[in-house]
Amino acid sequence: MSTTDRRTVETETRVDFVWPAKDFSRVPYEVFSDEKIFELELDRIFRGPVWNYLGLECEIPNWGDYQTTWVGNIQVVVTRAKDGSIHAFENSCAHRGARIVDNVRGNTKRHTCPYHLWTYNLTGELTGVPFEKGHNGKGGMPPCFEKGDHNLKALRVATHGGLVFGTYDNAVEPLEQFLGEHSLSQIERLLGKRKPKVIGYLRQKIPANWKLYNENVRDPYHASLLHMFHITFGIQTPAMAGGIKMDGDAKNSWNHSILSEDDHLKRSALSDDYDELGKWQKDLKMHDPSMLEVPLDLNDNYKTTILSMFPTLIIGQVDNTYAIRQLRPKGPNAVELHITYLGFEDDTPEQLHNRMLSVNLIGPGGYISLEDGEALRRVQEGVVSRRGEHSVLAMGGIGELRDTDHLIQEISIRGFWKHYHKLMKFPEAGQQQNDKRGAQ
Ligand code: FES
Ligand SMILES: [Fe+2]
Repeated sequence: MSTTDRRTVETETRVDFVWPAKDFSRVPYEVFSDEKIFELELDRIFRGPVWNYLGLECEIPNWGDYQTTWVGNIQVVVTRAKDGSIHAFENSCAHRGARIVDNVRGNTKRHTCPYHLWTYNLTGELTGVPFEKGHNGKGGMPPCFEKGDHNLKALRVATHGGLVFGTYDNAVEPLEQFLGEHSLSQIERLLGKRKPKVIGYLRQKIPANWKLYNENVRDPYHASLLHMFHITFGIQTPAMAGGIKMDGDAKNSWNHSILSEDDHLKRSALSDDYDELGKWQKDLKMHDPSMLEVPLDLNDNYKTTILSMFPTLIIGQVDNTYAIRQLRPKGPNAVELHITYLGFEDDTPEQLHNRMLSVNLIGPGGYISLEDGEALRRVQEGVVSRRGEHSVLAMGGIGELRDTDHLIQEISIRGFWKHYHKLMKFPEAGQQQNDKRGAQ
């Protein structure tokens, strides 16, 4: 029995905890901290039938350009070959496994492992083995050694709208089908009409499971409760027009809020709901509000749009801040959030300045996302001892997964769990009715 077989058998017998609700309105807490579940995710999700986000075409515009990224716990090198094609392979030598590339990004004609100097071309093929034929008739590889059998482990690559994706799975549906209708139209809306350019990077390590971040970005319910900046300064409020749309199998979702002229009136009408919470300081003013006065540069009044794509990609537009967020799981108890801030090639200096201003809204110290990392840390710490119990996702209704024209909901989170549960091959949900709080 191979190591993989052993691991599969072991984990298949291990995933015996209960998903009490067929509609995924209950999530067993074990999934957030169990080491074996994390191991299983590496096989069944990251090496499974998904398209993993790897980066942007504009980050490697010239042949020889490369950058490193992560798929689950696997470090991957993404390169552009001389013919312009994009390739992705694991950053681990075919000889004895050493990490080959150290830089985050750069340009090179070949990749050489520092240990015994095995050399690979830009598509990951092994092209050079020092002393392959030995020296003076001594040493060298045996006659049966074929370099072609020792290429770097490659992912299959596809691109859409300037985004680069990779998969280990030969049977996964085509990328466009995987992304779905709303993701495709939003990628077109945000990135299709202008040539994107990176204006900055940021990394944040959050002491929480990677799936908690997936919940967070599919959770507009928290947006104007945890982030009082939203409600105080009218960026996203429960009174605004907006809603969620999910793609076919509900694994990807798009939350959006839309500006209307009477938003300030509708916001005042929220007072009753907020007064008893005691958190909204209505008179709070910014000393320098210029960050909030940046005109939207797309002509469609979408104030905030968060496009969340299974398993680790989020494209967010908050005002004029365009940011790609990638989740890089670091074991079950931590995730690195890697943010790529975007501008566009034809930005005027003023537009670039404005983008830099509104970047202050998001990121680890951002006015409306500082709290997310803290909230997720609290969940991670709160659930670790609650084996056999589960969370409650009922806001916006239970049962059928459906799009909504409002943002007071957790339905899109259930969409994430439905797909996760399917890929993880957990026992059928809803088999054990042990929830007195009304799960189906
Ligand atoms: S481990 Fe890379 S050349 Fe030996
Ligand atoms: Fe948030």
